[in-house]
Order: sequence, then structure tokens, then C-alpha cells
Amino acid sequence: MKKRCPSSLLLLLLLWQFTGCKPTDQHGSTAQTQGVTGEKGMVVSAHPEASRIGLAILQQGGNAYDAAVATGFALAVAYPVAGNIGGGGFLVYRKQDGEIGALDYREKAPKAASRDMYLDAQKNVIADASTLGHLAVGVPGAVDGLAAMHQKLGSLPWATVVQPAIDLARKGVVLTEREARMLNEDRENFIKANKFIPSVVRDTPWWKGDVLALPELASSLERIRDKGRAGFYEGQTADLLVKEMQRGGGIISHQDLKEYHSVWRTPITGTYRGYKVISMPPPSSGGIALLQLLQMVEPYDLSKWGWQQPNTVHVMTEAQRRVYADRATYLGDPDFVKVPVSSLLSPAYLKNRMATLDMERATPSSQVQAGQLLARESDQTTHYSIVDQWGNAASITTTLNGGYGSKVVVEGAGFILNNEMDDFSAKPGVPNMFGLIGGEANAIAPGKRMLSSMTPTILEKDGKLFMVVGTPGGSTIITSVFQAILNVVDHGMGMQQAVAAPRFHHQWLPDRIEPEAAALSPEVREVLQKRGHTLQERGRYGAVDGILKRKDGRWEGGADPRGDDTALGY
Ligand code: GLY
Repeated sequence: MKKRCPSSLLLLLLLWQFTGCKPTDQHGSTAQTQGVTGEKGMVVSAHPEASRIGLAILQQGGNAYDAAVATGFALAVAYPVAGNIGGGGFLVYRKQDGEIGALDYREKAPKAASRDMYLDAQKNVIADASTLGHLAVGVPGAVDGLAAMHQKLGSLPWATVVQPAIDLARKGVVLTEREARMLNEDRENFIKANKFIPSVVRDTPWWKGDVLALPELASSLERIRDKGRAGFYEGQTADLLVKEMQRGGGIISHQDLKEYHSVWRTPITGTYRGYKVISMPPPSSGGIALLQLLQMVEPYDLSKWGWQQPNTVHVMTEAQRRVYADRATYLGDPDFVKVPVSSLLSPAYLKNRMATLDMERATPSSQVQAGQLLARESDQTTHYSIVDQWGNAASITTTLNGGYGSKVVVEGAGFILNNEMDDFSAKPGVPNMFGLIGGEANAIAPGKRMLSSMTPTILEKDGKLFMVVGTPGGSTIITSVFQAILNVVDHGMGMQQAVAAPRFHHQWLPDRIEPEAAALSPEVREVLQKRGHTLQERGRYGAVDGILKRKDGRWEGGADPRGDDTALGY
């Protein structure tokens, strides 16, 4: 029987009542700004202030990349749990003329890093060393990336796109309930990781509505405004960062900062049911894994089987198990290891990978040929999608890795540093603190970029821009983007419906389907269990922010109700 979540509001409400198609019930009501449409342009990001700043840049005649830079700096102020200048990220872009590209501004291991730097004398992994404090920090790439993005693709003056974030940092950010809670939860970690009391820590708990002013961050942003990348990688900010490293036992040097450069890369491209998919190449695993997943499920009529119905979930899960096994074995920084991209994406290879699919039985992950487990990645990353009046598109995912990264705040400079070093395999082949292990391809080496799952993605239909999408969520990023695309292409959902819909995840190991509470109806779970799948519910994950071209020509912004995410269009 055909079962879909249609886009009509009335039908949708009925389905919410009587079926598993209930996108938002575990997450409360959606904010007014969600599901908005715009004729000209759209910004969807994790924070209302950042979306407001991005939209204002579009409205004053800036293009998508001007807005992307402004939104990126604004997130560093308004959304410090993941927005950053002390971390890194990826851009996938598509210009109005069809030109596509990708910018890799992923952090790098410092020159003084070494393969065993997180191991003790007995070669055991030292708890917390790669996640908390100064040694966990990779050389930040965000400022170089935003500067490179602006130089190649922007149109407004640099100062114009940096200034709104400076103003916001000086004025202060009004905390949402979620932000206040997250800051309170990490209070002890901030105290532990720093030799001084940073302004994100105060004696009494933070509450919704409190104002967090960040004057030192404002000064750091002013140096970036005035000197570009040199305002971060050289001069006063660099001095403060290196001093901070020395104070806390970190290893980033002036030379690491000076030599950091982002890299323009060729996106991973492929097709799915006639749509062209453009996504991030290594050092992200995202683009390859997404294209593998899409091509592995393409032979099956998911639309006919229906959204989150047993056969659909079974086939998606079996594809995910195989793709994540590949990810763990083959993927790493392409500047250091040879990633067999064309083999991994070859139709014959992918057909062969699915040849062992049994529609009646789950294939135990222990029987799926694979090398090593994937590296641990945490949930706190952030994605934003932007489209401008000319049809230029930016799909950007950026991260500090863990929530507030290493928790280290650079004293005197007011910004938080990443703990991206934990995205490497601290010890290839040995489980980390999350029970996951990483492969040889992702071992630590000086100057190497750590493997990522970030999957900023753009879809074209008939040669025209169709969809811009991405999400945070560590290893669940790939499957969340995968599901958002299937929700639109196979199940006929609009953008807001597609991002709000409950999700499930399987990553080969641990060998289980992890549905959100509202995902997979009890009947579907029972059928899957009978086929041999193990299910274990997990809390909500991801925050998919996307933009879709509707049939009437307007852009629809989809802002994930799992966060404070906000879509603003005009
Ligand atoms: N730190 C999350 C990722 O890069 O995938």
C-alpha cells in the first residue's frame, strides 16, 4: 500500500493524528519563523540573530556568500556552542551560472602533533586528552575560510560583512532557554579547562532572557575586520592564542597559525532519480557516503513502499550499515592518504555491496566486510543554508566538534577553541570513549586534517538550483541529510516537513537502528525486529536546515524545530 506524508496541511494534520507521520510531536510546536517562504532569498541558521544578520546582508544587495560570511561570524557570537572563529568548516557552493565548488577550512593537527599523543606509557588512550583542554585543539580554519570565501565569491566590502557580528558581541546576545541550559551544563568544564574565569561562566545560573555580552570577542572581530586573515593568524590575536596554548599545555605555535590555509576542492557529484547531488569531498566522509547511500537505494521504489515503512527502513538501514563500514576503512585526509573515490562511487561496486541484501533478514554487521570503525564525532556542529536573489547558493557546515569545543577560551581574545583533534583516531583500531574506533587512514599526523562527517549539500533539478541542505550531528549527519533528501524526492514533503520529520540512524557499529522517539511506529518496529534488526531509541539529533525551490517558484526555508533554528526569507 502506498503511504506518504503529503504536503497538504489538512492531510498532514490527519496523518499526524493517525499514523507515524508526525514530524514534530516530540519537539514541541514550531516557531513562527519556520517553514517561511521567500520570493528572492532565504537564510536558515541555528540562531535567530544570525539569520537576521544574514538576511539584512541579502536585503542590502549582498550575495549569498556575503550573507554566508556575515552569518558565520554572527554564529560565532550568538551560538558559541558550535558557531566559531576557533574551529573550522566546509562550504559547498553553486553560483547562478551553474559553477560549483567546495572550500575546505577544516582544522589541522599542529606541527608538534604526533600519532600517539593521546596515549600513555602503556599505549592506552588518556581519558579526556583529545576532548577537553588545550591539547585537544586543532589549528583553527574558520577565519581563513571565511576570508577566502569572501575574496573569491563575495561582493560587498569585507568590513560590511564582519561589522554586524561585532555590533552583536558588544551589545550582547539575549540567551534562549536552550543556550542558557547548555552554558549551565558546561559550567564546570569551562572552569576545569581554563586558568581564568571566562565570561560564559558566572556565579549564578544563566536564564532565558539574560544578556551575554562579549567585548573581548568584539575586539578580536575588529582585528579581523581591519586586517582580514592576518587579524587572526598574526599579530595580537595570534599572540594571545599562542600564549593561551603555552599556559595550558597546548602545542599550537605561531608557525602553525601563519601557515594555515584553507583549500578549494572539487565537490563530490552524482545523481539520484534525475537530481544532481553536489556535496563535500574528503576530508569529509559526508559527500562520498551520501552519494553511496543514494545510489544504493535508488533501485528500490521507496515512494511506493512509503515513508518509514518496513521495507523502506530495511533497505535504508542495510545501505547505511555497508556505507559506514566503508567510511571507517577508506576515508581520511586526501592530502595524506589515497581515498579511492571513484571505486567507492562506482555503480558496479555499489550494486555488489547490496548484492547480499536479504529483504526478510537484517545482515548482521559482523558479516559486513569492513576494516575499522569510524572515528567518534560529537553532536555540536552547526549548518546554515543561504540562497540569494540571483540564485547563488551556499551550503555551510561549521564546527568546534564537541559543544563549546575544548571549552578553552582564549584569554583576552574571548573566543572558544575547538576539540577537533578528537575526530582523529587517537589509537587506530582501539575503541575510544564512545565505544567507536577509527581506521589507519585517520591516524594523527602533523599538518593532517581529521576526518569529518559534515555533509553540506546542494541539489539541482533540470540544471537549476533545487535544494540546499545540511545538519550538525556527528556521525548522524550523513543519515540525516540522506533522510531529508529522500523525504523531499521520494516522499513528496516540503522543506519544513522534511527537516522536522523524525529520523532514525544506523552506522554499521553498534549494530542497531537508533530511532528518535517519534520515528518508526510500533508496528513498523515490530516488523523490523522480526527481520532481525535491533532497535534502540536515542534522543533527538541533528538540526537540518534547508531551502527548497517550490513549484510556485518561491523558496521554502526549513528550520529544524529540534533547535532554535530560524528561517528568514524576503
Ligand atoms: N566534528 C564533527 C565532524 O566534523 O563531523
